[in-house]
Amino acid sequence: MKNVGILTGGGDAPGLNAVIRAVVIRLARERKDYNVVGLIDGWAGLRDKNTMNLSVSNVDQILHQGGTILGTSRTNLYKKGKEEDLRKAIDAYSQLNLNALVAIGGDDTLEIAYYLNRDHKLNVIGVPKTIDNDVCGTDFTFGFWSSVEQATKAIDDLRVTTMSHHRVMVIECMGRHAGWITAYTGLASEADYIAVPEKAVHIDDITREVKNCRAHGKLHSIVVVAEGASIAGIDTKPRIVKNDKGEWVLSSDVEKDSFGNTVLRAGEVGEAVAAAIEKKTGLETRAIALGHLQRGGAPCAYDRVLGTRYGVKAAEAIIAGNYGHMVVMNGLDVTTRTMSGLVRETQAEHKKYKLLPDEFMKLAEVFYE
Ligand code: F6P
Repeated sequence: MKNVGILTGGGDAPGLNAVIRAVVIRLARERKDYNVVGLIDGWAGLRDKNTMNLSVSNVDQILHQGGTILGTSRTNLYKKGKEEDLRKAIDAYSQLNLNALVAIGGDDTLEIAYYLNRDHKLNVIGVPKTIDNDVCGTDFTFGFWSSVEQATKAIDDLRVTTMSHHRVMVIECMGRHAGWITAYTGLASEADYIAVPEKAVHIDDITREVKNCRAHGKLHSIVVVAEGASIAGIDTKPRIVKNDKGEWVLSSDVEKDSFGNTVLRAGEVGEAVAAAIEKKTGLETRAIALGHLQRGGAPCAYDRVLGTRYGVKAAEAIIAGNYGHMVVMNGLDVTTRTMSGLVRETQAEHKKYKLLPDEFMKLAEVFYE
């Protein structure tokens, strides 16, 4: 009997339960060779040996549920000054008699998974997750499509009141480093302007477009901005700056969390853009941050299926002993690749996140006057 642990780390994303369910069911098919335990609240669950049994009956009827039945946290086992946490987690792996561990998470979680495999030889398999869709090496992460659906539905609803009042509505979407949610949502919502982290713009670019709308007889405007959008001329710090080579990199002049992520205050960018639009155009403008609504709700059908495919592939990587690998989707195929060369730590500075391809910026611009 081999013991397999599963954990979910970082921000939750619709589809996490699909992965958990698929790992459990696929391993159960291997003639009872595997016993699966869930580690509660991400890496904290490994550190504290806080587990729950995951049998096939435990994972019944969770496919359609958002969130994660295991709970999650942003516990960083490699945080400076917390070396004891790392030691405890490594010890817990043997004390729990684990033979393998599936770590489902975004860049932060996958980076820890990579180190634990590389430096401590733990049998870890990574599964990429984030609504932001910015993990390198995989075309899509589950959760992304559900969040785009949520945000698009919200804008459909907001359009009604925006039109009634002939206002400008600024909608802020999640996305610290990459504008995937913002671009897809903006394009799906006929937005009049889309501002993403990957492309620095000036507030005057936005107000010009809003004025254009009015000049063409359109009496309302929808502006979609990413929480990490890089917009000059508003009252916030730029998050992404160009380096000497002309590449976009994270600015070092911003507040960071324990993983080095930029700390963002929901609504900060949206509010600043709305205030500037109103001041510069005289048009009544409102702002709304969709915030954690984009992580809430049930996973859409696509994410249920993608999560299931990722979970099955993770289970098969365990059966094959392909540790140190992570599950990826390339084109139509779901496969595994070694984490080395994919996780953030092993990437060049400007390639740490999977950013929007130029096509999306151009696609958005095609519709501007
Ligand atoms: O990890 C994805 C994400 O949803 C980001 O888009 C967002 O900036 C962040 O998490 C919010 O994190 P928290 O839930 O810790 O506030």
